[in-house]
Amino acid sequence: MSDDDIDWPEYLAKFHRDRAGIVESVLSRAVGGDHTPYRWLARAVGGPATTVLDLACGSGPMSRQLAGPGRTVIGLDISAAELQLAAERGPGPWLRADGLRLPFRDGSIDAVTSSIGLVVITPLDALMAEIVRVLRPGGVLAAIAPAIRPLSPTDLRVLARINARLRAKPQFPGPVELAGFKKTLKAYDLRRVEDARERYRFTVASRADAELVMSALYLPQTRWSRVESAIELLQDRVERKGSVDITIPMRRVVAIK
Ligand SMILES: C[S@@+](CC[C@H](N)C(=O)[O-])C[C@H]1O[C@@H](n2cnc3c(N)ncnc32)[C@H](O)[C@@H]1O
Repeated sequence: MSDDDIDWPEYLAKFHRDRAGIVESVLSRAVGGDHTPYRWLARAVGGPATTVLDLACGSGPMSRQLAGPGRTVIGLDISAAELQLAAERGPGPWLRADGLRLPFRDGSIDAVTSSIGLVVITPLDALMAEIVRVLRPGGVLAAIAPAIRPLSPTDLRVLARINARLRAKPQFPGPVELAGFKKTLKAYDLRRVEDARERYRFTVASRADAELVMSALYLPQTRWSRVESAIELLQDRVERKGSVDITIPMRRVVAIK
């Protein structure tokens, strides 16, 4: 199957119905310095933002990170299962909608955040047009996406072994690590004020951890037996060494309308 043959809307709908909350389960345990990727993203949003839209909110981790006095954080996602979990964990408001058709008036949002949404909702151009439409002048877009660097030689060795077992790399429907995003921002008259990368570490210390992290990857072209093989590789390393760290590099882009 070529990449073009993947039915992403169907794959994503099933993935997030069957595994609601799994992305949060992994990223809330991914640590870099004193923080998680969610905390890093939340730090990009300043105090004056009183109406914040968290796009592709999943089970709602960003709403909890962004909550503050006088601020409304609207979590929007297309998956009913993710939103149900979000509603069990936080007050919302939660909105089920397609990111390509945002149910908001022009210029009504102070800040849009998205953890991984910009590499999942496609086409990116149409998504950007919607984000720019709903942001007020001076409003902020802050997004994080999985990246391919920075990685140390040790990180690369671990990931290469996992990918060899999977016989594949995790995939996203959108551009790998938001490639070409500088041009996209320019095309939509957004001023880039930050473009940074950080490494996060997820520690696998048990078979359950190995199952969790491997099950959180988008692998639309990979048989489950390959995933099991990668889980066994990690379990074997845990038995020999006590634990194994998987590095998750992230890119954060912040722009102003
Ligand atoms: C990788 S998950 C990220 C979830 C959450 N932001 C996090 O980081 O934990 C991607 C999310 O995008 C949502 N999604 C996919 N297509 C969408 C669309 N067209 N509109 C809105 N949400 C969408 C999925 O349901 C899923 O919750």
